[in-house]
Amino acid sequence: MEVYEAIRGRRTIRRFTSAPVKTEVLNHLVDAARLAPSGANRQPLEFICVSSPKRVNLVAEHVRWAAYIHPAGDPPLGHGPKAFIATVVNKQIAPDGALYDVAAAVTTMIIAARTEGLGSCWMGNIDHPAITTILNIPEKGWKLDNVLALGFPDESPVVEDFKDTVKYWKNGKGVLHVPKRKLKHIIHQETF
Ligand SMILES: Cc1cc2nc3c(=O)[nH]c(=O)nc-3n(C[C@H](O)[C@H](O)[C@H](O)COP(=O)(O)O)c2cc1C
Repeated sequence: MEVYEAIRGRRTIRRFTSAPVKTEVLNHLVDAARLAPSGANRQPLEFICVSSPKRVNLVAEHVRWAAYIHPAGDPPLGHGPKAFIATVVNKQIAPDGALYDVAAAVTTMIIAARTEGLGSCWMGNIDHPAITTILNIPEKGWKLDNVLALGFPDESPVVEDFKDTVKYWKNGKGVLHVPKRKLKHIIHQETF
């Protein structure tokens, strides 16, 4: 898939097929994140790949989907994610956090996932203490930032031109509509 097409056609996916996600593919995604830009090249991030159904289900109990349309955005039974990649910050390397590095790494994984045919949902609205325990992340020196939910897409959300709200919605057929500001409203040439 051409990269620009992978970026333009990407939408957050919250409904997945039953197909599993191979460990090698998760490793590929982390390898892509490993090579993402990093402030001062400090590389404070580490990643936990979760694909055993039992642990995936445990993590899934502590994430919150699509707050604007809750509960309509929750994956229906049997359509949950098939894997997660948790991003963890090494606080010895980055005591004050590493938000930009996290954003670069997670975005890189999301695009790489799409080229593998995978859908994803970046999840920041999570129960950090619960997932920290489930994933055995040491409390001291490490900080769970987010989890990336992964699986093969079983929905096709569409982009709408932003009108009066940033809130996404589902139509009567369950299709998610995601408003985005128009290019002409955010682009400036030469000066603001
Ligand atoms: C920092 C961040 C945190 C997010 N956290 C969640 C979350 O906890 N749950 C969820 O369902 N979606 C989450 N999302 C996905 C956004 O809701 C989604 O990106 C947004 O609605 C735009 O849709 P799009 O990704 O299809 O363009 C998050 C996205 C970002 C960038």
